[in-house]
Amino acid sequence: MRPMAMEQFVLFIFMCCLSSRFVDAYDPVDPNGNITINWDFPSIEPNVYAVKVSIHNYQLYRHIERPGWRLSWVWAGHEFISTVIGAETTEQGNCTGRHGANGAPPHCCEKQPVMMDLLPGAPYNRQSANCCRGGVLSSVTQNNRTATSQFEMYIANFALDEHGDPKMPTTFSIGVPGYTCSNATNVPATRSKVDEQRHVQVLRTWQIICSYSQFRDAPSPSCCVSLTTFYNSTIVGCPRDSCGGANSPSAHQCLSGGEQSKVLAALPDADGAPPVPVIRCTEHMCPIRVHWHVKQSYRGYWRVKVAVTNYDVVSNYTDWNLVVQHPNLRSLTQLFSFNYQPLIQYGTINDTGMFWGIKNYNEMLLGDGNVQTEMILEKDPSDFTFSGGWAFPRRVYFNGHECVMPPPDQYPSLPNAAWDVRVSAVQRWLVAGSCLLSLSMLFLV
Ligand SMILES: *[C@@H]1O[C@H](CO)[C@@H](O)[C@H](O)[C@H]1NC(C)=O
Ligand SMILES: *[C@@H]1O[C@H](CO)[C@@H](O)[C@H](O)[C@H]1NC(C)=O
Ligand SMILES: *[C@@H]1O[C@H](CO)[C@@H](O)[C@H](O)[C@H]1NC(C)=O
Ligand SMILES: *[C@@H]1O[C@H](CO)[C@@H](O)[C@H](O)[C@H]1NC(C)=O
Ligand SMILES: *[C@@H]1O[C@H](CO)[C@@H](O)[C@H](O)[C@H]1NC(C)=O
Ligand SMILES: *[C@@H]1O[C@H](CO)[C@@H](O)[C@H](O)[C@H]1NC(C)=O
Ligand SMILES: *[C@@H]1O[C@H](CO)[C@@H](O)[C@H](O)[C@H]1NC(C)=O
Repeated sequence: MRPMAMEQFVLFIFMCCLSSRFVDAYDPVDPNGNITINWDFPSIEPNVYAVKVSIHNYQLYRHIERPGWRLSWVWAGHEFISTVIGAETTEQGNCTGRHGANGAPPHCCEKQPVMMDLLPGAPYNRQSANCCRGGVLSSVTQNNRTATSQFEMYIANFALDEHGDPKMPTTFSIGVPGYTCSNATNVPATRSKVDEQRHVQVLRTWQIICSYSQFRDAPSPSCCVSLTTFYNSTIVGCPRDSCGGANSPSAHQCLSGGEQSKVLAALPDADGAPPVPVIRCTEHMCPIRVHWHVKQSYRGYWRVKVAVTNYDVVSNYTDWNLVVQHPNLRSLTQLFSFNYQPLIQYGTINDTGMFWGIKNYNEMLLGDGNVQTEMILEKDPSDFTFSGGWAFPRRVYFNGHECVMPPPDQYPSLPNAAWDVRVSAVQRWLVAGSCLLSLSMLFLV
């Protein structure tokens, strides 16, 4: 093959890899990721059952943002919730003829209750351990402690099966787009921690597993990637209308000047509902842009600058994270101002990792603001090259949503591209191999 043809071949392969998205719940970046819900029954008293419900996010990089989880299920019989602490249902329902503790009106008599977390600062007597974060769950990598939410409820009128055991509710949902939940199953009951020092025995545990699928979520993109390099002055911007054109139904409101009224209208209301996004008008119309700049080349290393810009003037992204796939990340030597953890490490594959902010420094990406880092990567003689678009990321996710990349044929090229195509055989095999893998996944499902 002539060098130019080779370059086009590599670009074609990139394009093919980039366009294959995760097809079903299986996420190669986080194959075991799930949200596990446990219903622990610490005691089984006649007629009124205490249940401690915990929701743990075991996903490495996906987190649940505001407006948070909304857990719902369908009772098997005529159960009702007499009281709950650490959460509340959205509706009370028709409680005619039913009485809770001490004859007080029950908390909820709906056949399908929808339980939501309390907001921070809820009255002390309504709180329980690990409650009251507005339904937000961190990813387990960023903060294992706040990856858990808990509430306790007392259930009356439990429908019983032929053995006298409570019947499991059905149709569980966590109320966040993209997630589906299993039916409840009995798992071996364990001890449950009530405070720092004490564990209590649990008599019974029901477990529900919820998993995410980008296919079911199918959100319109919310971020895009732009590229620059030190060796070519071309600025490759985000593709036009990456996140929906001005006329598409999913388009965000956009702000062209200092229209304060739009900003004020979007600010969070007293109920703490999250603000409506108001983004600055740009060609790409995305709330988030990730800029990848190949900054410098040294003898054995190269330097990349990454900047994440928030074009939404009102929304802050608390605990944001960025997942990047690039073959050189296995040789990440130095990183400034972000945290990093590799996500995929199977044998020789170690090309995907997660970046997030440093606590009390840049963990919050402010409205109309940006966060940035520089990193130094060691050149691996077997595959390093600035040609063929190799220096650019293969995939980028912001807060778990895949970002739109520019088309590979627009990537900035080396000035003497025709002479400098040094695409090693190893690299071709790697790229072609991962493409075949993606394709086979596409056909298997
Ligand atoms: C859910 O996640 C936990 C923790 O990573 C893991 O041990 C468990 O096998 C997962 N369950 C399923 C059904 O994926
Ligand atoms: C509430 O339930 C009672 C008895 O189950 C029924 O008689 C009554 O009509 C219901 N009220 C409403 C508003 O649905
Ligand atoms: C994360 O928290 C869960 C539940 O609180 C606990 O079982 C687990 O050991 C913790 N994992 C790490 C890595 O700290
Ligand atoms: C859950 O249980 C219901 C009824 O018991 C059944 O119809 C349904 O197929 C089950 N769903 C799953 C995902 O197993
Ligand atoms: C975003 O953060 C800034 C600074 O902490 C704060 O003043 C502002 O109210 C926050 N905006 C929203 C919508 O929460
Ligand atoms: C993966 O890459 C990171 C640096 O990005 C490195 O610290 C880690 O040791 C690598 N893991 C393996 C198994 O090579
Ligand atoms: C920079 O890259 C662009 C896009 O690949 C290419 O068209 C242009 O010729 C390059 N500029 C130089 C000076 O090589």
